[in-house]
Amino acid sequence: MRIEDPKLLTAFQELDVEWKPAMSLAELTYLGIGGTTDLLSIRRHDAIPDLLNLLDGHGIPHKFLGGGSNLLVIDGDLPFVVLQLASCDPDVVIEGNIASVDAAADLGRTVTFCAKHNLGGMEGLIGVPGTVGGALRMNAGAYGTQIGSYVREVKLYRAADRRLETLHGKQISFEYRHTSFAPDDMMLSVKLELPCKPYPEILQGIRICNEKRRASQPLGQKSAGCIFKNPPGASAGRMIDELGLKGFAVGDARVSDRHANFFINAGHASAADMLALIAGVRERVRGAYGVTLEYEVVVWNV
Ligand code: EPU
Repeated sequence: MRIEDPKLLTAFQELDVEWKPAMSLAELTYLGIGGTTDLLSIRRHDAIPDLLNLLDGHGIPHKFLGGGSNLLVIDGDLPFVVLQLASCDPDVVIEGNIASVDAAADLGRTVTFCAKHNLGGMEGLIGVPGTVGGALRMNAGAYGTQIGSYVREVKLYRAADRRLETLHGKQISFEYRHTSFAPDDMMLSVKLELPCKPYPEILQGIRICNEKRRASQPLGQKSAGCIFKNPPGASAGRMIDELGLKGFAVGDARVSDRHANFFINAGHASAADMLALIAGVRERVRGAYGVTLEYEVVVWNV
C-alpha cells in the first residue's frame, strides 16, 4: 500500500513520524518472506493516538511490527501500512533492581546489559530474537524463564480506548505464549523488576542456555523460531519429528533437520509455500495424534 497524499506526508512530519516508502517485509523479518508496503517509523510515543486517528480518518489499515522474528507475512503489495517504533538511545535505564526498557530495544542486548548491572533472571531468554515489546506481547519464554514473571509495569497504546495507558504488572495475565493484551495493543515500554545476582553467575547461566540452544536449534538459518505452540504436556517438535517430517518441504519452505518445530526458508520460499507446509504438517499431526496444533508464529495474511 502506498501513501501518496501530500497532506498526510506533511502531517507525518509534524508528528515526528518518518515515512519509509515501499519497504520489503522480506528484509524486515527473520523468515525473509513478505511483500512490500510503506512503513511509518514512530519517534515519539505521544504522537501515536494522533497518527492512528489520521490513518483511520483516511481509511488506511495498519499493523504494528516489532522485531519481525516471529512473523510470517504474505507476498505482493500488502493491503496495509506498517508502524514501527524507532529505536531510542538509551533504550535501557537501570535504577536499583528496576530496568526501564523501551519496547523497541533488542531483547538479547537488554538481557546482557542488565547482567552487566548485576541484574539476572532472564538468562534463558538470551537467544530469543526480536524486541522487548514483541517478547512482552506474547510472553516469550525459554529454559524455564518467561519475561512476564519480571514485569512491574507496562506502558502501551490501547487501541480500544485510542489512548496511551500504563498498566501495573498485576493487571496483566501472562500465560504460556499468551497475554491479556489485545491483538492491536502496541507495547511502548516496560519496567522489569529483576533479581540481583553477581555478573559472573549470570554469565554462566547465559553460556549454558546459549549452548543448549546451539545444540538443538537451527540458529544460522532463516526461521520464525517455533512455528507451533506446544500442546499441554507434549512437544510439537517431537511429534513432528516422530512422524518423520524433518526435511519435508514445499518449495523452499522446509522442516528443519535440527528441530522439527522450526520451519526454514531455505532459499526463496514464498508465503504460500510456508503456509502450505504449515497446513500440511498440522494435518499430519492431527491425523496421527488427534491434536490440532496452535500457531505460535503470527501470520499477516490480510
Ligand atoms: N525433540 C525431538 N525432535 C525435535 C525437536 C525436539 O525429539 O525435532 C524433543 C527434544 O529432544 C526434547 C523435547 O522434544 O526431548 C523438547 O524439545 P526442546 O527442549 O527443544 O523444547 P521445545 O519444547 O521443542 C521449547 C520452546 C522453544 C524454546 C525451548 C527451550 C515452544 C513452542 N518452544 O521448545 O521456544 O527455545 O523450549 O526452552 O514453546 C519459540 O518460542 O519460538 C521457541 C523456539
